[in-house]
Amino acid sequence: MPYPTSPALAGRSLLSLMNHPAGAVRDILDRADALKAEGEWPAALSGRAVALIFEQPSTRTRVSFEVGIARLGGHPVVLAGRDMQLGRGETIEDTAKVLSRFVDAIVIRTVDHAKVVALAEHADVPVINALTHDHHPCQGLADVMTIRERFGDPRGLRAAYVGDGNNCCHSLMVAGALLGMEVVAGCPEGYLPDPVVVQRADVIAREHGGSVSVVRDPREAVAGARAVYTDVWVSMGDEAEEAERLHVFAPYRVDDALMDAAAPDAIALHPLPAHDGLEITRAVYHGPRSAVWDEAENRLYVQAALLMHILG
Ligand code: CP
Ligand code: NVA
Repeated sequence: MPYPTSPALAGRSLLSLMNHPAGAVRDILDRADALKAEGEWPAALSGRAVALIFEQPSTRTRVSFEVGIARLGGHPVVLAGRDMQLGRGETIEDTAKVLSRFVDAIVIRTVDHAKVVALAEHADVPVINALTHDHHPCQGLADVMTIRERFGDPRGLRAAYVGDGNNCCHSLMVAGALLGMEVVAGCPEGYLPDPVVVQRADVIAREHGGSVSVVRDPREAVAGARAVYTDVWVSMGDEAEEAERLHVFAPYRVDDALMDAAAPDAIALHPLPAHDGLEITRAVYHGPRSAVWDEAENRLYVQAALLMHILG
């Protein structure tokens, strides 16, 4: 069989990367690299349908899942949360049971992580987290794929996350930890990543020769970093705190001066959408050190690879 399935992923859900072994991530990344190199993809999802539920807006996640499933010969069923009976009060439990009778996997984007956990508990098919307020594992996979693509095996490589200790920060920490990277987050007091995630990621990282830590100073975080990563200051679900957040995060902007404080060959990463002059400057993310377009493109390959491993 040309495409063996990773035993740690076959038939499993992906809610965060925290409960998956390093081998599973390597299997996804190796498959993703192969898909990127191949012009023609196998019809690995032929006869399979995948529901894509979006309760929040999306450009990259929606298009990359939809295109990837179609290129693998599968059938994507895109559902806007507000158009479903879920939006009129049908329970997650009942939605999970019914969708499981029609589709082979469910991909969902919603703010509340507990909702995705409940969906996975009640579904008879694997569930993939396409972003919650707590985790964005598909993004984390694309981030480390991009780092690996630029620098080779990233074991011991220092990556800095600067800004809000949010879902993308968590997923970078866990994905980086599984590859043995040194991930340092520079975040302001009150907006630190979840200490449970940091501790767990640090334990995982140390098993693989890396570490995960948090500092307050953005310049300290980026010192020696080969990848400087930032994300929006106001995530979906945080809109009510916008004014305060714009004030608190101002010293955490990724501009050319902060990039100059990183390693000479450092790349800039951002999950996108970006906000010029807030968390990052256009000069950086449209400039020579930017890897954000490759990072966005790599969503397609990691998610296709993930579905191939999960659905076989
Ligand atoms: N990075 C990311 O998840 O982008 P979308 O919100 O456009 O899907
Ligand atoms: N942290 C952002 C990521 C968007 C892709 C959010 O949750 O809105």
